[in-house]
Amino acid sequence: MTLARINKLNKSYDTGGEITHVLREMDLSLNRGEMVMIMGPSGSGKTTLLNLLGGIDGPDSGVLQVDGLNLTELTKKDLNKFRRERVGFIFQFYNLIPTLTAIENVELGLENLVGNSKEMKIRAKKYLDMVGLSDKARNYPQELSGGQQQRVAIARALSKEPALILADEPTGNLDEEREESIMGIMKDLQHELGITFLIVSHNTRLKKYMDRTLVLRHGTLHEGS
Ligand SMILES: Nc1ncnc2c1ncn2[C@@H]1O[C@H](COP(=O)(O)OP(=O)(O)OP(=O)(O)O)[C@@H](O)[C@H]1O
Ligand SMILES: [Mg+2]
Repeated sequence: MTLARINKLNKSYDTGGEITHVLREMDLSLNRGEMVMIMGPSGSGKTTLLNLLGGIDGPDSGVLQVDGLNLTELTKKDLNKFRRERVGFIFQFYNLIPTLTAIENVELGLENLVGNSKEMKIRAKKYLDMVGLSDKARNYPQELSGGQQQRVAIARALSKEPALILADEPTGNLDEEREESIMGIMKDLQHELGITFLIVSHNTRLKKYMDRTLVLRHGTLHEGS
């Protein structure tokens, strides 16, 4: 079953009259419960692609379907709802809220998703424990190391148990041991909950966890080695 379908997708940016064509007639199909990695040079459009699939940005043209929804046809309100309920985002630069503690950052993503505030706390704690941060739940982002902040961002995305996780260099700041443990957690969630993962990384060590690896070059995706 298909979770996401991209067909002839185009995306360009216009910065003061200079147009950068980032994605050109791109095709991509993701099966439900699949874990796929995207590699590619810096500036090739990997983050751009994740932003489109997550409904954070819109394409110039083309088909962009996720979880049965045509993202280009949704109202702003429905697009917000889609993003909140069905997608977990692990951003390249974490995007934690500095005025909230680690556990509050995780809980924030669970609003309107998980019953009451008590259940939100239980779920947030469960995922912070899973990524090895039980002792840092009450700390603020600036009191955490880069790798610890990254793990808060991972817990925030995974705890939603969404249809799709979009991850931008999710283990970029972790040591190899921690990377293995985090990838193990993601594999478990893939298998137990049928979550689809699209993971952007330059790290070839992650290949062994993937069902497929694709390379983004010149605006389109190619089969990786
Ligand atoms: N908001 C924006 N406005 C204008 N240009 C942008 C914007 N976002 C990205 N770009 C341009 O689009 C291209 C693709 O950027 P993108 O961030 O998707 O690359 P990337 O593959 O994620 O790179 P990296 O590996 O360095 O993270 C780059 O040339 C970048 O300068
Ligand atoms: Mg990027």
